Amino acid sequence: MARCFVTRSLPGPALDRLRAEHEVDVWPERLPPPYEELSARAAGVEGLLALLTDRVDAALIEHCPRLRVISNYAVGYDNIDIDAATARAIVVGNTPDVLTEATADLTWALLLAAARKLPEAVASVHAGDWLTWEPARYLGATVQGAVLGIVGFGRIGRAVARRASGFDMTVLYTGGGSGGSSSGALATAVGLDELLEGSDFVSLHCPLTPLTHHLIDAAALERMRSNAILINTARGPIVDPVALREALESGQIAGAALDVTEPEPLPADDPLLGAPNLIVVPHIGSATRQAREQMAELAVENLLAGLDGRPLPHKVEVVV
Ligand code: DGY
Repeated sequence: MARCFVTRSLPGPALDRLRAEHEVDVWPERLPPPYEELSARAAGVEGLLALLTDRVDAALIEHCPRLRVISNYAVGYDNIDIDAATARAIVVGNTPDVLTEATADLTWALLLAAARKLPEAVASVHAGDWLTWEPARYLGATVQGAVLGIVGFGRIGRAVARRASGFDMTVLYTGGGSGGSSSGALATAVGLDELLEGSDFVSLHCPLTPLTHHLIDAAALERMRSNAILINTARGPIVDPVALREALESGQIAGAALDVTEPEPLPADDPLLGAPNLIVVPHIGSATRQAREQMAELAVENLLAGLDGRPLPHKVEVVV
């Protein structure tokens, strides 16, 4: 029996399986454990089940001499110092696949909501401003036949592209995989500049790495069409928030819809929220009951496997 720390209560029965085999300490609060608390609770454990809100950095890893496995309850793992874990032969797991379709759905929900100005229209009904049928109000963008640029053509990018075929869209993409028609939609690999210049909708699906930090900066936004809408369901820091605010305020681009932000959570008084034609939702890409419960199952399976010395069902591979 090993000792484990789980940094938040998870949906579904998965944690019961962990409790059946190991001594499990679950952080009970709504908010994440503060860094010092995380460090203190993880200090004596062999298994750590962390969330994307937990910073598992080199100092924390060094503080946990018995740690053998870190299981991240997320597909993204930019919150974990993989090099520091690898140097200590600590295996790291993540939860791909089970959240792909949920995240692709949310991407499309945001794309359509931004294209058709849903927040503005809903707000006007609540404000008692639905006075008549108006020919020239709430005029949005046509999605049918438009060009969708997908930055990062991995699992989620491809799932977004598959949905685009139902809208007869032209899909351009950068990065990841072999493209062609394997996503179910005809997709063309292009460079980032070409994608930004040629797309009506630009959707981000790359991981956050030093190379993609502020990939969408002022220069990138300048390349985008004035009718373009930016969607980010990947990681907040891929977009420079100051540049985005300026681009929305100046009309450089037509809109943005963000599931992820920098910082996260975004304070209610953050200047970005004052920008026009902006939708922000609180990182809910994977928030379907099915996806979140399957993520919990997978995160627990990764942890159990690591503690048993078995290969993890989904091990984060270090890219060299
Ligand atoms: C992830 O898994 O990385 C998402 O951002 C949250 O589900």
